[in-house]
Parts: sequence; structure tokens; C-alpha cells
Amino acid sequence: MTIKAVNDDVIAQGVTLLQSGECVVIPTETVYGLAADATNGQAVAKIFDIKGRPTFNPLISHFYNLDHVCEYVDLNDDALALAQSFWPGPMTLITNRKDNCSIHDVTTAGLDTVAVRVPSHLTAQKIIRGADKPLAAPSANASGEVSPTSAMHVADSLGGKAPLVIADGFCEVGLESTVIDVSSDKAIILRPGAITADQCADVLGYDVEIDLGDKGADVKSPGQLLKHYAPSTPVRLKAFDLHEGEALLAFGSTKFMPVSNVPDTHILNLSETGDLCEAASNLFSYLRRLDQVDASSIAVMDVPNIGVGIAINDRLQRASEK
Ligand code: TXA
Ligand code: MG
Repeated sequence: MTIKAVNDDVIAQGVTLLQSGECVVIPTETVYGLAADATNGQAVAKIFDIKGRPTFNPLISHFYNLDHVCEYVDLNDDALALAQSFWPGPMTLITNRKDNCSIHDVTTAGLDTVAVRVPSHLTAQKIIRGADKPLAAPSANASGEVSPTSAMHVADSLGGKAPLVIADGFCEVGLESTVIDVSSDKAIILRPGAITADQCADVLGYDVEIDLGDKGADVKSPGQLLKHYAPSTPVRLKAFDLHEGEALLAFGSTKFMPVSNVPDTHILNLSETGDLCEAASNLFSYLRRLDQVDASSIAVMDVPNIGVGIAINDRLQRASEK
């Protein structure tokens, strides 16, 4: 795998690869994505192959702006209001495809709906514009692993499998986008993220439910079926003490944690000041680091379940599932 620091030449190389049906790892504000032309079934099939991703799990298509999105899918009033408020940015909308929509069935896993997003990351925008096609892009990690927030994470997870990784620092948001189903009457959040239910409610004027697909009813998002974001070390949630041999993923003050005998390498604090956005941006890279220190398990302090904390707890819950 070739990792190249971003510049105009590297972006041009990425665009050429994408136009010739290859995959390229691109930075976005949420996590790094493994991109391919969403209208080219063979190109998108390579994404599933490289990630080892089950083909029933559909991908998000990425566009450079709202007009670009509207060439492919229909947006109802709620979708438009959300798009105008939060795009470009860390939000994905599940929408209905237009009759002439050329997004390939391999991308949507044969569903009638299409997941669409306009990322705010400048490099991502330039690449999509250059390719002049929607780009299908899941997180650039092997299926079931923690999403990558740096090019090094991509290399750790995918090895040499992608022809080009465009490196552009750390991802600012650090959590995958909020996924909102706007394909029927009422918007429903299927995956919590940095855009919160309260922010959506403010725009739409009604309470927006979060449906994590864990209530036994029909699953709306195939990705909800999968164990996700999992380090190989067991994860113990809501820890208020520390067991022998454990590493600590702290949040806020550690004043009441018995950490005096624990080596420095075994403690990372998501945010000493208790800032949930800072915690979100550190979450995946800290889970990776603690996964490498040979701890018996990773004890995680309680993170308040409000705002972005809901998304953080969703990822932690999945990381802790056996
Ligand atoms: O932040 C992000 O969204 C990143 C960056 C690269 O943009 N991408 C990402 O993609 O997280 P991925 O493939 O890891 O997650 C996509 C999620 C999956 O849970 C999938 O099941 C769901 O979106 N999804 C995609 N299309 C869908 C559809 N038509 N209906 C319901 N869920 C869908
Ligand atoms: Mg993923």
C-alpha cells in the first residue's frame, strides 16, 4: 500500500485511480474512507473484498454538494431542511433513489434507498469533484474493527490492500456520521453521531427518535446487525474502579480512580475537562492504543449519555460486545 501526504498531484493520482475503477483511501472529517466510484459495480465490489465486508451491508455515497446529491436522489422537505442545516458535515441521509439514479446495486446492497452524504473535509471535496461521480466509501478498516482516524490506523488495519492512501492528518470529528432515515414521513436516527437528535429536532420541529435496531423490531440499517468498532482486548464499561492488569480509558477527573500503581502507558483520558467533542475525536485512536498495551481488559469510565455522548456510548457498547 502506498501512503502519500496530500497535495494537488496526489489528489490528481487519486482521481485517476478512482476513474479507472480502483479504490482509494481518502480523509474525511469523521473517519478515513475506502472510496470507489459508486456507479461502478466492479469498483465497489473491491471495497467489500478489501474490507471483508458482508455484501448485504450497503455503503454511503459521498457527493460534493447538495445539487450533486439531488441529481441522484429525491429529498423531501425534512431531508432538505437537514441538508441545508448540516451539510457539508458529519450527517448521512437515507433517501429514495430517483428513477434514473445510476448508483450501483452493489453500493446499495439492492435496497431501494440510498445513503448520501456531503463531507466537509476539503480534500474529500476536491477528490469527489475531480472524479465527478458519487463515491461509495465505508470506513477504511477491516470489517468489524475500529474505524481509522489517521492514515497510520488505515495501514494497521488494511495492510497493503488499497492501492493508495491519501494522508491528511487526524479526523476532526473522530466518529462516523450520524445516519438519519428520511425516506418516509418522519426522520429517525439509525446511527448516532456528532449531529445530535436535539439538533435535528430543532431543525424539524418534532422529537427525533433514535432507533439502534436493538428492540427486536425490524432492522432498518443492515450495519446495526454487526458487531462493530471492536478492539481485541475486552472492554468493561462504566468502571468506577480498576482491576489488576487493566488499562483505563478515562473521561474527566480521575481523582477517585485508584491509578497510582498503573503504568502511564495504560491510562488515556478522552478529555480531562469532560468535553464530549474532544472525547469523540480521541475515542477510536485511544481504543487502538490501549488495545496494544497487553492489558487484561480496558476499563472505561462513565461517559454522560447526552449530546455527542450518546454516539460515544453507542460505539463503546458495541466495542464491549463479545
Ligand atoms: O462518517 C461516515 O459515515 C464514514 C465516512 C467514510 O463517510 N462512513 C461510514 O460508512 O461510516 P460505513 O459503511 O462504515 O457505515 C455506513 C452505515 C452502515 O451501518 C450501513 O448499514 C448504513 O450506513 N446504511 C447504508 N445504506 C443504508 C440504507 N440504504 N439504509 C439503511 N442503512 C444504510
Ligand atoms: Mg464502518
